[in-house]
Amino acid sequence: MARVIAVSNRVSVPTKGSATRAGGLEVALAAVFANNPGVWFGWSGKTVGEGETKTQIVEVDGQQYTTIDLTRTDHNEYYNGFANRVLWPILHYRLDLADYSLRDLSGYLRVNSRFAQELSKIIQRDDILWVHDYHLIPLAKTLRELGFRNRIGFFLHTPLPPPEVLTALPNHESLFPSLCAYDLVGFQTEIETANFARYLISECRYPSRDLKTFYVHGRSCTIGVYPVGVSTDEIGAWAAQSFNAPLVTRVRHSLENRALVIGVDRLDYSKGLLAKIEGFKHFLEDNREWLNKVAFLQITPRSRSEVREYISLNHEVDSAVGHINGTFGQADWTPIRYVNRSYARNVLAGLYRSARAALVTPLRDGMNLVAKEFVASQAEEDPGVLILSRFAGAARECEGALIINPYDVRSISSAIKLALEMPLEERQSRHRATVERLAKNDIKDWGRRFIDDLIAEKSDYLLPASTPSLVEAAVKGAT
Ligand code: UDP
Ligand code: G6P
Repeated sequence: MARVIAVSNRVSVPTKGSATRAGGLEVALAAVFANNPGVWFGWSGKTVGEGETKTQIVEVDGQQYTTIDLTRTDHNEYYNGFANRVLWPILHYRLDLADYSLRDLSGYLRVNSRFAQELSKIIQRDDILWVHDYHLIPLAKTLRELGFRNRIGFFLHTPLPPPEVLTALPNHESLFPSLCAYDLVGFQTEIETANFARYLISECRYPSRDLKTFYVHGRSCTIGVYPVGVSTDEIGAWAAQSFNAPLVTRVRHSLENRALVIGVDRLDYSKGLLAKIEGFKHFLEDNREWLNKVAFLQITPRSRSEVREYISLNHEVDSAVGHINGTFGQADWTPIRYVNRSYARNVLAGLYRSARAALVTPLRDGMNLVAKEFVASQAEEDPGVLILSRFAGAARECEGALIINPYDVRSISSAIKLALEMPLEERQSRHRATVERLAKNDIKDWGRRFIDDLIAEKSDYLLPASTPSLVEAAVKGAT
């Protein structure tokens, strides 16, 4: 089997003690490599002065981690700037928050070239490259220009909006079409594949027979759906074990028989934290019999703390939580327990199992692994209820969840009431429906499926003489 080199901005180099992860990408890639070691290449997480960057190579259990430092300028322009103040908001449908500058774009392209240069020192002929997320869209194009003909795949962990939104990015025509330098481009749901196909047809006029494989400059690029899953068995076992761990037991005792509602999100505007808090406030206002009988634990590790929008969100959430605790709280009851730190996933699993409901309310989310992990952590005999935004990729698989619209805070408030008062039988049947579905999409199969498809793709070929008519029809329909 050929060696797999995964490339992502964020790399999860193992540390001593139980690992806490920064996000879904790290969790998914760590699972892929757990059984099939390869190379994981990316940023070390360190920012240094000009001329001080180093490359580090660490090997643990046959798995190699190769990381490079970023200069402060690169970090500002590429990571804080173009990736997180332009691409992230656009990909999450937040054009109002995108702050484009040519300086950040050139920093983004410079770091992508640097990744390509560093990678070119380690790539061998038969290596398979798997590139992840919006930080590295042009990487394959740069590697192709350097002469690499290896199989290169790309997976986008975030949503991908329709062309009407993508085209608001200045110079979009020199960025998004470069995804076609990959042999295979994977997305979380059919929504993203349909949006990208429409972009390639209406904006680039790239021909395709089936709206899955596109012919570009004598090569082909295929797009497909590869939803990131979770390992339901593993998470179920963690939950059963850590339910009785000291921290989880202390949290349960501290509830004094109040029902626990839980939320776990990075501090990010895409997660709908303010809507969630507002929804909880309405629930308390409208259901006074629940005062002092419920506790909402919101675990929110800070994220991208140098980015302006994240700094303001931090203040807004602090103030919204403070307002509710001040208004409804009593000397012996704090309605919202708000914690800005991260916990290991096995500890979270024990907390999920102790909760009567989870509130997962993103305004947009590529997948949302927390939703799936919550379901996988429940005890069949007394499961908690998942309240889930219709705008999370996970909503397509979580059949038994209470699906809400995060823009309608009343729908959040009613769902909390429904969840807390739901009869056991209904909770069990909803839980069963979702967990059975999730068990069919184990994260262990995700990496294998993508790599198998990437190897199977025949990408080097010339466009057939007659361009298929389906595409012409689609182009006409889209313009
Ligand atoms: N996570 C964690 N500790 C925390 C908070 C989150 O390990 O304190 C993990 C969580 O279990 C999940 C991932 O980080 O696997 C978050 O992924 P998700 O898709 O929900 O959101 P993202 O942060 O990638 O947008
Ligand atoms: C999301 C993104 C990942 C990113 C993670 C954490 O899951 O899709 O690419 O790694 O958030 O964000 P950070 O900026 O800390 O890497």
